[in-house]
Amino acid sequence: MLRFLTAGESHGQGLVVILEGLPAGLVLDFDAITADLQRRQAGYGRGRRMAIESDRAELLSGVRRGRTTGAPLAMLIRNRDWENWQATMHVEAETPAGATGARRAAVVRPRPGHADLAGALKYEHDDIRDVLERASARETAARVAAGAIARQLLSALGVEIVSHVLSIGGAGLPLGTIIPFDRIKAIGPDSVLRSADPAAEAAMIHAIDAARDAGDTVGGIFEVVAHGVPVGLGSYVHWDRKLDGRLALAMMSIPAIKAVAIGDGVDGARRPGSQVHDEIVAEVDGGGARRIARPTNRAGGLEGGVTTGEDVRVTGFMKPISTLMKPLRSVDLTTLEDAPAAIERSDVCAVPAAAVVGEAMVALVLAEAVVERFGGDSMRQLIGQVTASGSRVQARTQRPAHTGPSPA
Ligand SMILES: Cc1cc2nc3c(=O)[nH]c(=O)nc-3n(C[C@H](O)[C@H](O)[C@H](O)COP(=O)(O)O)c2cc1C
Repeated sequence: MLRFLTAGESHGQGLVVILEGLPAGLVLDFDAITADLQRRQAGYGRGRRMAIESDRAELLSGVRRGRTTGAPLAMLIRNRDWENWQATMHVEAETPAGATGARRAAVVRPRPGHADLAGALKYEHDDIRDVLERASARETAARVAAGAIARQLLSALGVEIVSHVLSIGGAGLPLGTIIPFDRIKAIGPDSVLRSADPAAEAAMIHAIDAARDAGDTVGGIFEVVAHGVPVGLGSYVHWDRKLDGRLALAMMSIPAIKAVAIGDGVDGARRPGSQVHDEIVAEVDGGGARRIARPTNRAGGLEGGVTTGEDVRVTGFMKPISTLMKPLRSVDLTTLEDAPAAIERSDVCAVPAAAVVGEAMVALVLAEAVVERFGGDSMRQLIGQVTASGSRVQARTQRPAHTGPSPA
């Protein structure tokens, strides 16, 4: 079983993540973890916070001489902003001598769209900072670090995960546009929104600028695509083993993600079955060799909650950022009088960052499903099992010319 837990506050000392259940013998690329953390911080529309934080994960355990040992892996991501927040966020009962940064006033005006009000009522906090520090999407940095390791496990099995932004605030590509894996993979660092279409990107940048000028925020739609996924992950036999359900939970758990689609998802609900399901055909090559093939992949690589071997395609729908520079109406919790919502330093749009978090969550779910199905004590065992299973699938779905059925 592969699982992870995170801890840490947005302006606390740092974030901690423990990842348990990794097979032993996975050779880790530390720079790749940093690269993923930096991709999460990039993207047009991010706020000043991202310029302050330059995330790096320190590996504390579970790794020796560059390889996982099979023990729980722990990582620490320090908050570089901590020095400005010590007087507000210290863990001691009294402010420690030498604590730096200003002591901030209590937050008492909940922001609509955030956990602020529901969280303050649930945990009985007077200072909403006790809610927002943990509910903040800063926590997703820890997920991206864990996801970067899951991605490396999958990569050793030939699985690659990419993402792209489809639309922002209604501008961009229409829902249902299919961008092939190779084109998404080829999106370079010069694309500030990680879009596969320059015209769509220009329109999306315009939408972000317009929102910023209006003191408003925008959400959008992104897609995560996993390529090379083994056949047979997940199961149809129980509701909680269906991989589409597990992917949806993982994606929906990302702050501000309000809907998830697998494959054509939402769009497919509007079309007849003949235009939604992926036909199964026998492909015959010039020499008479046969193989089972799918001319389309509208299902997004999953049927009956089980991976088909086609690309797994998961779309995330993100609501607009909840902190508005032109604040929405709210109420002061101390006086119960109308008051504008609190303003915290904030992004105008974080859809490209959410897509990177989406990649991490998909990687963690797929890695968990792989370990579950094929066994995960060591990478040697895992790779052996995945290869053997792939050969058995191939034997069932491909037939060389000389053993084909004789003509009627
Ligand atoms: C990568 C990322 C960055 C975000 N940045 C901000 C931000 O700067 N300001 C903000 O108010 N909300 C931000 N959010 C969104 C909030 O975290 C989200 O609206 C809030 O947690 C409530 O969402 P929920 O109702 O889906 O839990 C961000 C979300 C993600 C995924």
